[in-house]
Amino acid sequence: MQTVRQLTELREAIGAYREAGESVALVPTMGALHDGHMALVEAAKRAGSRVAVSIFVNPIQFGPNEDLAKYPRREQADSRMLAGAGIDLLWMPPVEVMYPEGFASKVSVSGISEVLDGAHRPGHFDGVATVVTKLFNQVQPQVALFGEKDWQQLAVIRRMVADLDMPVEIIGVPVQREDDGLALSSRNAYLMPEDRARAIALPRALGAAERTISEGGDVEAALAQARETLAAAGFEVDYVTLTDAETLGDPVPGRPRRLLAAASIGGTRLIDNIPVA
Ligand code: PAF
Repeated sequence: MQTVRQLTELREAIGAYREAGESVALVPTMGALHDGHMALVEAAKRAGSRVAVSIFVNPIQFGPNEDLAKYPRREQADSRMLAGAGIDLLWMPPVEVMYPEGFASKVSVSGISEVLDGAHRPGHFDGVATVVTKLFNQVQPQVALFGEKDWQQLAVIRRMVADLDMPVEIIGVPVQREDDGLALSSRNAYLMPEDRARAIALPRALGAAERTISEGGDVEAALAQARETLAAAGFEVDYVTLTDAETLGDPVPGRPRRLLAAASIGGTRLIDNIPVA
């Protein structure tokens, strides 16, 4: 595994792959890697002949009152995990390489970035779209893999890639879960044991709502029940909602639907989602 931190070294490595006729699959991450990321890496190995992983805690996707300063950073452990998984390239640019002085551009995907998490985290998806565009331009992958846990992020990136004719195939990888159902997330590390125990209410509430809705039950009642269950478990609920899976607008008969939730427990904000038949 080659670890690079400067654009010149990155371009050399990518140029050599291209000359050898290799295809590159990119897994963009913010580090603090867990089995969810490793599932992306395994899918990337099947999708390209070379696998590149980026680790960059992207300051412009964090709001002023969010967890940028305390976001877990575990460079050495991450690096060992990736080397063990047999990836080819680790791209770890310092912040001044990603955003040099005078940086002034922004990629913004309207509509889909403004609802749900976008409404609760203004500017978040502009930060994501901007850094993902930069990562695509830097690494020039043929394929890029993202976790379905961040369903809205995946939908925003798919919209952006289609709108801007970016020559990269986007693959979504299903949510990876703990044995009790909690979706894997780097932010789970913030949960105190008591909150970790209560956090299973989130996948359970989604599962119960999904069953009611797919059996033809009342959607609003199912969503209200899920919100109540979460509040009773100690969550502060941002949203529990049923949307069109692709546009995140209102569900449309005959099209895939997705149940999405965001809620905080003990100051940690968790998100989760599941498909609804
Ligand atoms: O999902 C993440 O870890 C980040 O939002 C991403 C896609 C790496 C952009 O910083």
